[in-house]
Amino acid sequence: MKLSIRKAVRSDCKAVWTWRNDPVTRANSRNTAKIPWRKHVSWFAETFERGNPQIFIVTAGRVRAGLVSLRMNGKRAEVSVNIAPSFRGKGVGSKAIALACKIAAKLGLVSLEAFVKKTNAASQKAFEKNDFVKNSCKKGLCKYCRRLVS
Ligand SMILES: CC(C)(COP(=O)(O)OP(=O)(O)OC[C@H]1O[C@@H](n2cnc3c(N)ncnc32)[C@H](O)[C@@H]1OP(=O)(O)O)[C@@H](O)C(=O)NCCC(=O)NCCS
Repeated sequence: MKLSIRKAVRSDCKAVWTWRNDPVTRANSRNTAKIPWRKHVSWFAETFERGNPQIFIVTAGRVRAGLVSLRMNGKRAEVSVNIAPSFRGKGVGSKAIALACKIAAKLGLVSLEAFVKKTNAASQKAFEKNDFVKNSCKKGLCKYCRRLVS
């Protein structure tokens, strides 16, 4: 599947909210509570105002297939990924992470980290396929790291 990536725009708000509230996404998140629409709208607007986290939309043709986000912390960032339910299990998550790594390198970041629940096999594999290495696990949450420059 040919995928592209672009910066999120304000009109992506509803799609991002739908993906964030998908039950599998909630179960795999640190905070599993549902996200009310109004809370999402102000969070999404703030991401544009602050520029952090930076959200990118992965597209398959004209269709939104998911997102990756980079939460910047100096020269490092935490990467997270959320694929639209109908696009899961088709290699999109793995490719989305690869695209996020390219963007991060272009932004001059030196390393990325991701936090993945021990029970989230698909996410663990998708990060490992992209050369992320499991660093430590605490209370069911594993930290994955990847350096972008040697
Ligand atoms: C986790 C997620 C990003 C993975 O993306 P994806 O497009 O579904 O996964 P891929 O198709 O790229 O598959 C990645 C690997 O996981 C495997 N996999 C896919 N779905 C799986 C599942 N339900 N259980 C176990 N392994 C699975 C694939 O076989 C592949 O491994 P392989 O290359 O060895 O065959 C996506 O499913 C998702 O957005 N889930 C909900 C939100 C989430 O969990 N985000 C991550 C939070 S850390």
